[in-house]
Amino acid sequence: MVLEDVHDRPLLDLLISVTDRCNMRCRYCMPREHFDENHEFLPKEDILRFEEIVRVVEALIPHGLRKVRLTGGEPLLRRDLHELIRQLRASSADLDIAITTNGLLLKRQLTKLHEAGLSRVTISLDSLKKEVYQRMGDTDAEPSIVLEAIDEVQARGIPLKINTVVKKNVNDDQIIDMIETFGPRQIPVRFIEYMDVGTTNNWNLDHVVSGKVMRSRIEKELGALQSDQAIHKSDVAKVYTTADGWKIGFIESITNPFCGDCSRARLSANGNIYTCLFANHGHDVRGILRMGGTSDDIKTALQSIWKRRKDRYSEERSSLPTKSKVEMSYIGG
Ligand code: GTP
Ligand code: 5AD
Ligand code: SF4
Ligand code: SF4
Repeated sequence: MVLEDVHDRPLLDLLISVTDRCNMRCRYCMPREHFDENHEFLPKEDILRFEEIVRVVEALIPHGLRKVRLTGGEPLLRRDLHELIRQLRASSADLDIAITTNGLLLKRQLTKLHEAGLSRVTISLDSLKKEVYQRMGDTDAEPSIVLEAIDEVQARGIPLKINTVVKKNVNDDQIIDMIETFGPRQIPVRFIEYMDVGTTNNWNLDHVVSGKVMRSRIEKELGALQSDQAIHKSDVAKVYTTADGWKIGFIESITNPFCGDCSRARLSANGNIYTCLFANHGHDVRGILRMGGTSDDIKTALQSIWKRRKDRYSEERSSLPTKSKVEMSYIGG
């Protein structure tokens, strides 16, 4: 039975945050002045065990769940992540199991992740230029490490996408370089409008470059872009093909919101379900898991959460009062 929310949207995707920690401090996500040595990350005992995550996923599969995405923070900081993938794969042979990672720890873990049943990889990379990369990520890490991971993923034939958050006057001059580097390798780059997620990143509309502006700049350099037909109604990225036949995407949460088809739920590392990236509260499922709840109890709880869901934050943002929102590193990209 397909679960539908108040606006008839099915629950198709679950983003699973496996840790709220990260080895980068991207200015738009975990600014160092907030995520410093005084920041209280989740205590270990609060974090869902792999078996608990699998129980949540198993409760949703009969309702049409088709994709899980492992996120963080940085998911590869979670010890033995391949073991979670193995368990998820054992639950369902055709579940799409994707990961979103900054790529710094990927190369050495890739064999295990792939053998365990990982379907796809998305790597966040905001620039190929060392100084811009380091400024966006507030890191000493070298983008060459991420490029090596990209080579390795591609060499194994694992489907791969790149996510680039675009911030005005920081990396918006890097867009063409990204397309010219990854286009010929048939790796789609998706440019994400800088979003007002969380409360710590000092978001301001002046820092946003709209998808429309990005496309007109790209067209000046690379020729006309052709808009592709959407594959799934709920896809977040609008895909275009360049004159050279390369695929690029735009995620326009600010200027072209896509709540109408939003089919995603998020599971935080400590077991709260969030029905929107911009939600200010979650629904506890860890309590049910840890108090001896049966599979039916979990299913009933998830059904009632989803059936009451009304979220349309991106479409309503301009008319809503500012409220406290959870951080993306906590509920997962
Ligand atoms: P595929 O599984 O490859 O289709 O991935 P996806 O297109 O679903 O993209 P992914 O989950 O990697 O999301 C890419 C980026 O889009 C995220 O990092 C967020 O920045 C943004 N995003 C994803 N989902 C949502 C959403 O539900 N709402 C908003 N406002 N932004 C989102
Ligand atoms: N705006 C847009 N994208 C963001 N991400 C994290 N914070 C933001 C933000 N404020 C993206 C990262 C990564 C994914 C997990 O979310 O770049 O691709
Ligand atoms: Fe870490 Fe990803 Fe957030 Fe950057 S965007 S701080 S890599 S979780
Ligand atoms: Fe979905 Fe909320 Fe994003 Fe809208 S703002 S697309 S409802 S997660």
